[in-house]
Amino acid sequence: MFVGIDLGTSSVKLILVDHLGNILNTVSRSFDVNMEKASWSEQDPHQWYHQTFSALKEIIQGNEPVIKGISFSGQMHGLTLLDENDDIIRPAILWNDQRTVEEVDFLNNEFGIDQLMKSTGNIAVTGLTLPKLLWVKKHEPEHFKRIAKIMLPKDYLVYKLTGKFVSEVSDASGTLWYDVNHRQYAKDIISLTGLDLSCFPTIVESSDVVGDLTESVKGYLKITQHVNVIAGAGDQAAGAIGLGVVNDGDVSISLGTSGVIFVSSNKFFPDYKSHLQSYAHANGKYHLMAVMLSAAGSVSWFRKIIKDISFKEMYNGIENADPKEHLFFLPYLMGERAPINDPNAKGVFLGLSAKHTIFDMGRALIEGVTFALNDSMCLIKDLGINIKEIKITGGGAQNDIWCQIVSDIMDARVVRTTSNEGPAYGAAILAMVGSGVYQNVEEACQQMIKIEKVFEPQLDQVALYQEKYKQFVKIYPTVKSLF
Ligand code: XUL
Repeated sequence: MFVGIDLGTSSVKLILVDHLGNILNTVSRSFDVNMEKASWSEQDPHQWYHQTFSALKEIIQGNEPVIKGISFSGQMHGLTLLDENDDIIRPAILWNDQRTVEEVDFLNNEFGIDQLMKSTGNIAVTGLTLPKLLWVKKHEPEHFKRIAKIMLPKDYLVYKLTGKFVSEVSDASGTLWYDVNHRQYAKDIISLTGLDLSCFPTIVESSDVVGDLTESVKGYLKITQHVNVIAGAGDQAAGAIGLGVVNDGDVSISLGTSGVIFVSSNKFFPDYKSHLQSYAHANGKYHLMAVMLSAAGSVSWFRKIIKDISFKEMYNGIENADPKEHLFFLPYLMGERAPINDPNAKGVFLGLSAKHTIFDMGRALIEGVTFALNDSMCLIKDLGINIKEIKITGGGAQNDIWCQIVSDIMDARVVRTTSNEGPAYGAAILAMVGSGVYQNVEEACQQMIKIEKVFEPQLDQVALYQEKYKQFVKIYPTVKSLF
């Protein structure tokens, strides 16, 4: 049996699978995000490790002797700093933290976009790890000088399980100190940080075996045999593997806290035009990705505001709300990454009138998130990528109405697969491939991924949304100076 661990932003989810990919058990534990300071987002790495270890013990209980492999998916970009005693230096700074506007400005405008593209294949945006490291260097020199090891969130778990200081290509791509094309460190960027290369982990491929569990972890888990701990992947690459988005031109949309369009590519695909993220995929290839910061995150925020209404009631109400209403939502609750790259952008409802209900607002909200994703989808189409079918995943995708709205707004077939465990399932697949059950990720996906439901674009709605989208795209440029 194999365990896939997805270290998310609000919780860690574990799945136990057999070698055919059947899910035998799932366990999850939640944790807090500290967003008390405007535009900051931090988390205590001790929580990741305590919650994951106790969940791991629970999920394997009774099956300890037959656990063969464990792998990971993780929230990307989080700066996790350890000192020479392996103590955590400060809370991790997360992917949706927006404090690094000045560092991003320095990187893109003084160090220069051309050099960044040449060295890494990407430009700087606030969420990435390098600007955060430069922020710590400037604002917390007492912390900076203690740095002995820099990790990404899931790699901290790998370190706690194996004692190995290792990361892998897909997550390393999101640091901005990694040369994605050549799958090696970008030496000029490493010297820009002023740190020695020994502070940075060894980078392996996602399905590589990192090592065995340490003896103390085995003691805690009551395991005696060798267990393959496989490097794993950033949550977007792992999610794509969990959907079978592994062949050239395959496309997925993830409606998680963040919203992501992911395009699998056999070749390195730097985007010189709109600077979408161009990263290494977890199957030895590459991918392009557009990330918006508040997708299902916008829905969670809305649910908190409308307190008494359940998710089910809300989605039923949204289904019956009229799409012809001239009501719009800009989903920039955490600022925005793709495609506007504006950390100061804010959320907006526009067009409210006294007749509108909470459900009209809910419908405008999920349309707004989908329109904002469509902004990036249009850029991807402009790169010459033909989109006929989209695999969909994430919390938001569990609602038929949202899947249908994606299909209608993007005018493409939307396919939901049977496993809604996305990144954790991808992690389990990597554990199996790394342990030799399957020859490669593609073979594993072909055997395991099954279609659950297909949503076809409805012509009348496609036409309606094309008109509505023309209005949507005018809103941000009009209100941006007021944020
Ligand atoms: C990807 C990104 C997010 C986080 C969310 O670039 O920032 O998808 O990985 O967990």
